[in-house]
Amino acid sequence: MIRIGQATDDDWPAILDAHRRAFGRDEEAGMADAVRSSDGFVPELSLVALSDEATSRCQTQGHVLTSLVGLEGSERRLLQLGPIAVLPELQGRGIGSALVRASLDAVRALGEPLLLIEGDPKYYSRFGFVRADELGLAFA
Ligand SMILES: CC(C)(COP(=O)(O)OP(=O)(O)OC[C@H]1O[C@@H](n2cnc3c(N)ncnc32)[C@H](O)[C@@H]1OP(=O)(O)O)[C@@H](O)C(=O)NCCC(=O)NCCS
Repeated sequence: MIRIGQATDDDWPAILDAHRRAFGRDEEAGMADAVRSSDGFVPELSLVALSDEATSRCQTQGHVLTSLVGLEGSERRLLQLGPIAVLPELQGRGIGSALVRASLDAVRALGEPLLLIEGDPKYYSRFGFVRADELGLAFA
């Protein structure tokens, strides 16, 4: 069983480790850390997947960050999902999907009309994402 919840400061070292291990490099962990200390950070949209073991300590299994990004020529900001990471040994068990679905619920709860994501349409279309160009949106 996994539990998805808002990440706390205490979770952060394990979150950075999950990003490093999932991507096999430091870039995404650095990105997540930079977002966390920026004004685009939305604490309710920093979600962690924890093992749901009553007796032992909870293990961080994955993390997803959705944050506010700027639009050129506008003061409006939009939400963008990513990075998302699941520990390599736990991938393919539905944890990533659970993190994406929980993010979608949280974004809807905030009343945001649009969520951007940069990723493989084959994976993300299952959650209802559509290609930006199908909506007439172009990103540089
Ligand atoms: C992408 C990721 C978060 C998915 O988490 P997960 O727990 O493995 O995902 P789930 O178990 O919910 O779903 C597994 C499905 O995702 C697909 N998938 C996994 N990684 C994928 C990727 N990078 N691109 C496209 N599809 C991917 C699998 O092929 C599988 O497809 P299937 O259900 O048709 O068999 C995880 O694999 C990961 O951390 N990967 C390394 C980091 C990464 O690439 N992040 C995403 C960048 S956009």
